[in-house]
Amino acid sequence: MKSNFRTALAFVLLAQPGLAQEATPQAVALQDAAAQAVSPHDMGRLLFETNCVACHGADANEGKSGDIRDVDFRTVRKATGGGYEDMPEFSLTDAEMQAIVSYLNALKS
Ligand code: HEC
Repeated sequence: MKSNFRTALAFVLLAQPGLAQEATPQAVALQDAAAQAVSPHDMGRLLFETNCVACHGADANEGKSGDIRDVDFRTVRKATGGGYEDMPEFSLTDAEMQAIVSYLNALKS
């Protein structure tokens, strides 16, 4: 359980806009360890619940954008990269965005 908590903490810290560029060596090492220990689905869930639920809802079908459960990588990259005026920009790695896509797609079934 202890390592799960550390993993969650690493993602929470690294997913904040602006913080990723200033990640300390320890944080980077933690992120690497976390990426190996956690499935993409769980990583996507953590990232989504931390950064996106407030606007998109726990089931990813609320708010102005409506249902986003069948999104693809390109759309998530555009949306999190400042492509929509009403949505804040996020600093996410490709692996993190792919994890969010996996999680959202799985919510559909
Ligand atoms: C402050 C509220 C807010 C937060 C936080 C937020 N979004 Fe959004 N998002 C929006 C709004 C509003 C739109 C619709 C923008 C528009 O259509 O102009 C949107 C649109 C999107 C779209 C595009 C949907 C489509 O079909 O084109 C995706 C994908 C998306 N968001 C994913 C995310 C993800 C992933 C996160 C977390 C990393 C996130 N959003 C966090 C408000 C938010």
